[in-house]
Amino acid sequence: MRILLLGKNGQVGWELQRSLAPLGELLSLDRQTVGGLCGDLTDLEGLRATIRTVRPDVIVNAAAYTAVDKAESERELVDLVNVKAVQALAEEALSLGAWLVHYSTDYVFSGEGTTPWLEDAAVAPVNHYGASKFAGEEAVVASGCKYLIFRPSWIYSARGNNFAKTMLRLAREREELNVIDDQIGAPTGADLIADVTAHAIRQVLQRPDLAGVYHLAAAGEVSWHGYAQHVVEVAKAHGETLAVMSINPIETAAYSTPARRPRNSRLNTRKLRDNFSLHLPDWQSGVTRMLMEVLNK
Ligand SMILES: NC(=O)c1ccc[n+]([C@@H]2O[C@H](COP(=O)([O-])OP(=O)(O)OC[C@H]3O[C@@H](n4cnc5c(N)ncnc54)[C@H](OP(=O)(O)O)[C@@H]3O)[C@@H](O)[C@H]2O)c1
Repeated sequence: MRILLLGKNGQVGWELQRSLAPLGELLSLDRQTVGGLCGDLTDLEGLRATIRTVRPDVIVNAAAYTAVDKAESERELVDLVNVKAVQALAEEALSLGAWLVHYSTDYVFSGEGTTPWLEDAAVAPVNHYGASKFAGEEAVVASGCKYLIFRPSWIYSARGNNFAKTMLRLAREREELNVIDDQIGAPTGADLIADVTAHAIRQVLQRPDLAGVYHLAAAGEVSWHGYAQHVVEVAKAHGETLAVMSINPIETAAYSTPARRPRNSRLNTRKLRDNFSLHLPDWQSGVTRMLMEVLNK
């Protein structure tokens, strides 16, 4: 089996390089052109030519425009990367008879209420990033290719930038932190996402009827404030010297950002767990393990 991985240096892409390797011959690209192969999602013709040359059995797209606030002012580029490029990948997958594995987001939802979202709940993105990710999903589905779309939430990894690492840095620099307490979700490790992806690919090749959209998040739920508290507690318990004395809960309204965020990012993951016979661990264990790696403990 030949697998083409795009976005190999992102949080999820980096972990996919590890988890996909045992499945078959893996070709991993970032946005640089290497050996005539193009992994730049802004170069649609280059991308199509690369897929026609490589002729993969599975395309895994971990590349995306992910800067949520900046996305509000770079809409054309966001749509090129998150929609038009995804459409091109899906069309090429269809003509090869290949699978397309793609990642969307909890940000497709409005964030209303407190019930965990099911895959078929109505979407209503509150920012342009979320809207572009849903348009990307629609392009995949409309293409008619075989696909798996995962919607993860609140991704972290030892490599790359994310909330947990930002909190660790701020906790070293400041005595007081103000962190949003009315947005709820589940921090989810890039390593877990990559491992689940590999398991799902193995199974869907035998069971094409398992194709579809899946929510993929660690078990449990927490606010950004609770998440920050966990990061600081674990770091302190492992001997880190931190300046922070208090972490204050604040409301979303007190922290202005260019892009709005959904308050309810709880994802119901039963479909993924049942269809693929998978267990999703609680969010604390993965975050703690990542911190051990970052803190070199
Ligand atoms: N991060 C989250 O909390 C979160 C939550 C839910 C869903 N998701 C989704 O999950 C997926 C993986 O997210 P992640 O956290 O791993 O993202 P990430 O760390 O930001 O990585 C995204 C990757 O895409 C690459 N990329 C951006 N524009 C590109 C282009 N034009 N051509 C080729 N590559 C390009 C980036 O390359 P450069 O480094 O060169 O820019 C980067 O390596 C994405 O689809 C994202 O939308 C993320």
